[in-house]
This record gives sequence, C-alpha cells and structure tokens, in this order.
Amino acid sequence: MNITRAAAAKWLSVLAVVLSSSLTWAAGVDQKKADDAAMDFFMGEPASMVYPAPAPLLTNAQGREYQSLNGAWDILMDEAGMSWRVITAGDYLTDNTQYPDTGWNLLEHGFDQRNQLQVPGDWNSQRPELDRYRSRILYYKAVNLKPQQGKRYLMHFGGANYTTDLFVNDKLVGRHIGGYTAFNFDVTDFLKPGKNRFIVRVDAHLDETTIPTMRTSDFWKYGGLTRDVGLITIPESHVSQYHIYLEDAQQGLVKGWVKLEGGQVAGREVEVAIKGAGIKTAVTTNEEGLGEFAVKASNLKLWSPENPYLYKVALSFGKERIKDRIGLRTVATRGTDILLNGKPVKLRGISMHEETVLHAGLSNSRKDVAAMFKLVKELNANFVRLAHYPHNEHTVKLADEMGIMLWSEVPIVSMIDWENPQTLAAAKSQVQDNVARDMNRASIIFWSVSNESFPQTQARLDFLTELVTTARAMDHSGRPIASALVGSHEEFAGIGRRLFEYLLNSPDTPQEAREGLMAMAAKMQSAGNGATPQKAEDKSAVSEAPVFDVVINDKLGEVVDIIGYNEYFGWYYSKFFAQSFHVDEGLMRNAMLEVMSEIRFSNAFGKPMIISEFGAGAKQGLHSDKALIWSEEYQAKVYRAQLDMLEKSPQVQGYSPWVLKDFRSHLRELNGIQDTYNRKGLVSETGEKKIAFDVLSEFYRQKKAAQ
Ligand code: GCU
Repeated sequence: MNITRAAAAKWLSVLAVVLSSSLTWAAGVDQKKADDAAMDFFMGEPASMVYPAPAPLLTNAQGREYQSLNGAWDILMDEAGMSWRVITAGDYLTDNTQYPDTGWNLLEHGFDQRNQLQVPGDWNSQRPELDRYRSRILYYKAVNLKPQQGKRYLMHFGGANYTTDLFVNDKLVGRHIGGYTAFNFDVTDFLKPGKNRFIVRVDAHLDETTIPTMRTSDFWKYGGLTRDVGLITIPESHVSQYHIYLEDAQQGLVKGWVKLEGGQVAGREVEVAIKGAGIKTAVTTNEEGLGEFAVKASNLKLWSPENPYLYKVALSFGKERIKDRIGLRTVATRGTDILLNGKPVKLRGISMHEETVLHAGLSNSRKDVAAMFKLVKELNANFVRLAHYPHNEHTVKLADEMGIMLWSEVPIVSMIDWENPQTLAAAKSQVQDNVARDMNRASIIFWSVSNESFPQTQARLDFLTELVTTARAMDHSGRPIASALVGSHEEFAGIGRRLFEYLLNSPDTPQEAREGLMAMAAKMQSAGNGATPQKAEDKSAVSEAPVFDVVINDKLGEVVDIIGYNEYFGWYYSKFFAQSFHVDEGLMRNAMLEVMSEIRFSNAFGKPMIISEFGAGAKQGLHSDKALIWSEEYQAKVYRAQLDMLEKSPQVQGYSPWVLKDFRSHLRELNGIQDTYNRKGLVSETGEKKIAFDVLSEFYRQKKAAQ
C-alpha cells in the first residue's frame, strides 16, 4: 500500500488525537498531560531517560563460566526508533506465535525464525539491503535459566557497533557506547527461573560527535552484534579484574594486582600461581578489594616474537578458578630506541583493519584472524598496527601465541568534537575498556590514543592528554603510549622547492612546462619570495642533493612516548605539487619518486618514531608497462622508493605500511577501481597478492636475516 506523505501525516495526527483523547477519557487527565503523553509516544522514548552504565569489565571473560549465546537471533528493524514502548510494554510476539494464533490481539511486532541474523556478525555483510544500513535493529533471544542464590550473571559482549541497549524481560538494563570494545552488564536482578527474554537494540548511527565520526574516518561502519555474546556466571564475591606483568626482566620481578567485586571484598585472600615460573603467592585485598603482589623469579622464559612463550596462570578465590595464559616481557623506550626485554627492537610491521580474506564483513573468529596472521608471517613481519580501533579478543590472543607485536588504538580519527564532554566521556570509556580487556596481552606493546587528529588546537591537546593519562593510570606495566601525529606545512615547502629544481633541470621536462616553471621562478623572485630555484647552468646556485628533514613537532609528541607518523610520499602529494606547479601529474610522480631518497624523518622530541602509514593504491590484477597509477607496478614502485627512503632515517624504528588487505570504505567510490574498497592493500579483499606484497616481504626477510 503506497501511503502518500500527506496521508501518513493525517494518519499520525488522527492517531495522536485518538491516543490523547482516550487518555483524557480513561484517566480524566487534563488535555496538556494527554498531549504530552502523545508527544512522548511519538518521541520514541522518554526524553529524560538515564541509561545505566555497564558493570566493570571482567578480565578474561571467556576464561570464566561462560555460556555462549552465539548463533541465530530473531530480529526486528527499528529505523524509526519507535521500539522503546514496544519492548517495555512487552507488546511483541515471540516463540513463532503467528496469525491466526494471535486471535483478536492486535500486536504488530513479532520475533520469529523468519527474520534472523547470525551473531557474531555485522549485519551489513549478511544481507544486501543492510550493506549501508546505519540505524537500529532489535535482536531477540529467549534463554531458559535457573538462576542460583549467591551467584551473579553478566551478559558479556565482545563488541557491538555503535550504541547498544540491553533489555531483559522487557526491562532496560543499560547502555554501552562504542563500537569496538568489550562490555558486560550485570543482569542478575532481571532474571527469573525459566524463559528469559533478551532484547539487544543496536544503533549504528554515527555523526560528528561520536568516536569515530561518520565523515572523517576511512573505513566501513559495520553495525550490529559484531562479536561474541555470552552469559557469564560468577560468585557474588569474585575476581573482577587482574593484571600480571613483568616489571623488570633482569631481576625477574613479576608484579600484579587483583580486584574483587561483590559482597565482602576487603581482607580476602586470592592465590596467584604461575606454572613453571615457580610462582605461587597469596594476595590479601584492602578495603576497596584491591590486592597487589611482587615476586622475584629466576630463569623466566621471556615472551618475544622469536619465542612467544606463554605461562599458564591460575587465580583461585574461594571456589572461583580463573585460568589464563600470559607472556612475560618488558617494553620501554630509551632515547630513540624501543626496547623489548631491555634490547633494542626494530618493528617490521603492517597495518590491518578488522576484516578477513575468508569472507565479507568483519573478522569475528579465531579462524578469520588466523588467515590474516598467516599473511603477516609470509611478509616476514613481527608487528601489526591494529587500525583504527581495538580488534576482537581472538586477534590479541592469537598474536600472543604467534609472537606478533601489536599497536592497539582507539578510533580517535581525524577531526573529533574536541570540546564536547560526551565525546570525551565516550573516548575515555573506550580507552578504559581497551586496557581492561587487554592489559594481560604481552603482544600489545603500545596503546595509541589517536590517528592523524587535527586541528592542532589546545582543546585537542587537552582531550588527548586526558586519554594518555587514563591509559597510564590503568596500565601499571608502563606500556609506551603512541599516536599517529600530524605534520606541518613547513616540511612540504622544502620538498616543493626541491621538486621545482628537479623539474627545472630534468631532461624529461617538456619545454613548455620548463618555461612555465621559469616564469613562476621569475615571479617568485620579483615578489621577493626568498631565493628561487636556479637552472643547472648556475651550478653554484643549485643545492647539492640536499637532505630534507621532515621534523615532526606536533605538541602531542611531548605527551606520548612513541611518535607515529603517516606519510604518503609517492601517492597523495604528487597531485598537489603538480597542480601547484602547473605540470603534468605523471611528470611530478616520477620526480617525486626520484626526490624521495633525499627525505629524512625525525621528531623534535628525541623519541622513537614509527612510520605508521605509507602506501599506494592498486587494483589487484591491473598491470601497466608504464606503471600507471592504480597498477600493481606503480604500487610496487612506491614501496621500493619508500623503503629506500625510510632506511635513511635513524630515528625511525619501524613501519606499519598501509595496509595488509583492501578494505571497505564509504569514501572510496571510484567505479571499476575502488567500488567501495580502499585499494592500498598488499592483497585484494579475497587475499590475492599484489607485486608490492613480495617487495615488502623480501625487504623484511633481509632485515630479519640481518638482525
Ligand atoms: C590516512 C588514514 C587511513 C586512510 C589512509 C588512506 O592516513 O589514517 O585511515 O585509510 O590515510 O588515505 O588510505
């Protein structure tokens, strides 16, 4: 039935009148209250709603008494956001109740097997019509339970994108904001013996105030219950969080803390045993339920990429037993070096989004990640930058086992609403959730607080400094804090001048272009724009092949420990310079590839540097004997020029080129080439390697052999 807009508006106004008048008649309330009720109804949910926050995140959720709720969930679309009353009034059908079983009861919402989605799994890749869906969906599952006295029950989510509201037996439990971190709600007081109805409302909406924003982040905004969901049973008093780490490799000093929640937490004893390290210690908690320990051990097997040894750890508290596997290693900085177990380490890395070559959509299983880490190993890499958000727990646990060092980051990408308190709160909770879940993962060597964030204002610096403080306060092991900083315009002025000189003197430059450059030089001279580039005749004037120092001095560098920097020499900048100098872009691209070897990277803070992104796009299978743009050959040329350039910058301790695999992005719509994929991958979305994969793999093989 095709309802026109006017008819729909009439229908809604009639309904509002019916509703308000029936309320007036039924309750004898004054018209205003009735109108307010009608407005409330159409507002979707009470405007003054306060959403309870999740419970403190349990460390090692799947190492607890865990009942998986993965599988098919019944769903209902909720584009209009009108589900609140339906849920809280229980106005929906379940258990496949269908017409005519509904008799005379008018219910217009029903959960049944005819409309389901798989969990875990983004909804975008499960149905074509959901590929760009960025609103709400209700997930429903009924679970038979026998809640026991003295037990607590937590509903645990590996992650859900972006705003998640949990209802149990039609009552709101709480709300989590953030699309890439784990969270859990205590549902104990909402449960009853027998059938319990769980409804999870996920809203994928992002805007300028969210973390990440919709507009300035170059990756697909997958929505839904994207990661594992389960029910955890724990004793009333339980170990909520714990952190066990190596404080000093030389002394073999192992430190840690445990935090109890629920019931009597003070003065309780928790046993911590590390099998094979000769460590078994009893920790007694203080008034807040926090207990700390420090134990010396000898001949520890230190975790490293070459030997990713994981100790079997057991925590015992009353009847509670928690098992974990934890690598013991130290990571620190010394001047411009990064130290692993006290020794300088070079990072042979690659950046990776949370997608897999095995299927469309997000990675959400160990198998999905294993396929990606196989490629990482084929690259002879020892380091992965998990861009641009915390990845699922399978990823970090597998990295522990395979000896892959990780850069873990929260999705503070590009322009953020730096002065919005809600945005800061969302960012802080994502940092806290990230650290709380992964602080025991030896593979994670850096926490990063932002990627290319700008503008460089005081508000941005204050916002990010608060995130750094938050991470440092939670992680007692002192992991270095990183960030991919932004450069400044000065660095490009020098390189622009060098490109100008190169073109002026290159035999490849057509006469017309050369004359244009000469005219520009003359204009600059007459305008007094400093010394102008000279032609080769005047040998003394043309500078020796100068070295261009790109010096990163973003003030955030004073706050973080690791200076990350994304640069795209050979890809993005050539277009800008070609347009500025009115020369053919192909000519400029070749000039750039020549001049790059003269560029050096350093930072004004004397800290270790990581080139956290460089790269170029290529459509896998597209070849060109001229190495034209988008061909595999051009991408390989850029990689060779980048690796040759970066080798000459002593402060740079490693790289994580952009990017392992072509990935989905709503900013990449070039038909026939991108088709909603960012094509800077070294492999296609289905895992076909490009020439540049072998370029990087061979480069890293040689670095690995030489270490
Ligand atoms: C940026 C950004 C990435 C983006 C990449 C690109 O540096 O950090 O998220 O995908 O460049 O332009 O491909």
